[in-house]
Amino acid sequence: MPGTDRLQDLRALVTGGAAGIGAAVVRRLAQEGAQVAILDRDAAAAEALAAETGAAFAAVDLTDFAGVREAIARLGPFDIAVNNAGVDQHAFFTQTTEADWRRLLAINLEAVFCVTHAALPAMQAQGFGRVVMIGSEAGRLGSRGGSVYAAAKGGLVAFAKSLAMENARYAITVNTVLPGPVDTPLLRKAVAAGGDKLLAAMENATLLRRLGAPEEVAAAVAFLASREAGFVTGETLGVSGGMPLA
Ligand SMILES: NC(=O)c1ccc[n+]([C@@H]2O[C@H](COP(=O)([O-])OP(=O)(O)OC[C@H]3O[C@@H](n4cnc5c(N)ncnc54)[C@H](O)[C@@H]3O)[C@@H](O)[C@H]2O)c1
Repeated sequence: MPGTDRLQDLRALVTGGAAGIGAAVVRRLAQEGAQVAILDRDAAAAEALAAETGAAFAAVDLTDFAGVREAIARLGPFDIAVNNAGVDQHAFFTQTTEADWRRLLAINLEAVFCVTHAALPAMQAQGFGRVVMIGSEAGRLGSRGGSVYAAAKGGLVAFAKSLAMENARYAITVNTVLPGPVDTPLLRKAVAAGGDKLLAAMENATLLRRLGAPEEVAAAVAFLASREAGFVTGETLGVSGGMPLA
């Protein structure tokens, strides 16, 4: 709980931390005493949130791997890496292009490889680490109109489990959080394109019949990133209002 030392002084990296779920994670970790660094391509929003929370930030596009490695070398080392940045696209698979596949895989999967590859060695050297992936329920349930995104998010779960196996000996845990529909700029963009019907469909896709709040995802991430979650690894946690049962 806030007020304990479960996150105090831990050094945390949050990708896509300038908006939405990532921003809620930044605020929550900072409130609990972690030293947070934001990696986001939106320099203005990252700078504003850094000023608000005392976080450090680097304005970098996560698909620029050299830039990502440079930022992590400069701002690190880290005890916690939260791979949150991601982008969706609404189109049936036959309407997508090769350029769409590459873009979606680059940000949703390859950038996670790059960030984790750069952050893990320091965690291994110190014998402590927390890696948290932000996947999606689309990755285990599938997504009509989001096939490539769902494939990338499903890949993230397999990647996390594999890393959990390889890094257990270093007391590094690796877990994946699967949000359902959460009220963020990403979701609002989709609703603006799809209308009120899409919003209702998203709400009805959950057992609880509502959107989630970014803070509700951040609460789960904070737990998995904390010292007190040391016996939880290779897990996949839905924060989705019970989507698989809806
Ligand atoms: N909102 C939802 O309903 C929902 C549902 C399931 C999963 N997710 C996942 O949660 C994560 C966060 O989603 P969100 O809704 O908060 O998104 P968002 O679009 O509201 O915020 C994403 C942040 O990531 C940054 N970002 C995106 N691409 C980047 C890039 N190439 N380089 C650097 N920064 C980049 C953006 O600037 C932004 O600050 C994503 O991985 C998303 O797939 C969201």
